[in-house]
Amino acid sequence: MSRPNIRARQIPPPGAGRHTKTIAVCSGKGGVGKSNVALNLSILLSGAGNRVALVDADMGMANLDVLLNADIQGDISHVVAGTKRLEEIVVDLPSGVQFVAGASGLAKMANLSEFQRTRLGEELTQLEADNDLIVIDCAAGIGPSVLQFASGADIVLVVTTPEPTAITDAYGMIKALSRREYLGSLSVLTNQADNRQEGRATYQRLAEVARRFLDIRIFDAGYISEDPKVRQAVRRRQAFVLAYPKCPASRAVAALVNKLSPGGALVREKEGFFRRMVRLFA
Ligand SMILES: Nc1ncnc2c1ncn2[C@@H]1O[C@H](COP(=O)(O)OP(=O)(O)O)[C@@H](O)[C@H]1O
Ligand SMILES: [Mg+2]
Repeated sequence: MSRPNIRARQIPPPGAGRHTKTIAVCSGKGGVGKSNVALNLSILLSGAGNRVALVDADMGMANLDVLLNADIQGDISHVVAGTKRLEEIVVDLPSGVQFVAGASGLAKMANLSEFQRTRLGEELTQLEADNDLIVIDCAAGIGPSVLQFASGADIVLVVTTPEPTAITDAYGMIKALSRREYLGSLSVLTNQADNRQEGRATYQRLAEVARRFLDIRIFDAGYISEDPKVRQAVRRRQAFVLAYPKCPASRAVAALVNKLSPGGALVREKEGFFRRMVRLFA
């Protein structure tokens, strides 16, 4: 499959010294909107001029290929098994995003062995040569694969909804990462909020317990409102930012892209207050 010219033009000259940043989209609870966030964020980051790869790392319930209606030649299970190389399964989406499908159905493998995780990690590093940003759609929960992906990421977006069960599980994720002494930027994105107040309150609850019990600072990645256009786009197997670019959810993802851009809220706060945090878009 040929790569669109728009991407070819954006490839920086050799030796430009660009360092690829990884954004892991995680959650404690399943079904909170991780895959939708990962997909739509990837598309808008690509539209903003970044070279972006999107990896479906949900080994148990991979569904980005379904969400995307993508014609895939293989998935991560083939790479882990050693029957296909990563370059054989990467798909160039019309949006310019490079997509790596996850294992699903019969190939599902909720837990990889350490050997398999290492092999996968080595193969995925190939994406760094061609991309400025790698967005990883992780499985829900705090399994060893998720923690490995998330610990290595420059930025972790913990997606939650305002529901107490989702918030509790989001805290579990934050705690697990803090136990592993995660050094990147850890932020909370509230999905399916009724309004700005509910989004803000969800973030504040998590930020407060993380500060008090774990002594860590969590950043506010913002909120996405409950938006019927999201479900409509999912049913049409389209990304909502493409199907409904003006809907509230699309505008929320655009705001998140701003927060992730140089000089954006997440970046400024991080640099102002936290020595340990890494710089986004170095
Ligand atoms: N902001 C939103 N507004 C309305 N419905 C949403 C929103 N975000 C997610 N959904 C619904 O939740 C479902 C699950 O989202 P998904 O991204 O697949 O979650 P996860 O990857 O966390 O399991 C979607 O198919 C959609 O119907
Ligand atoms: Mg998902």
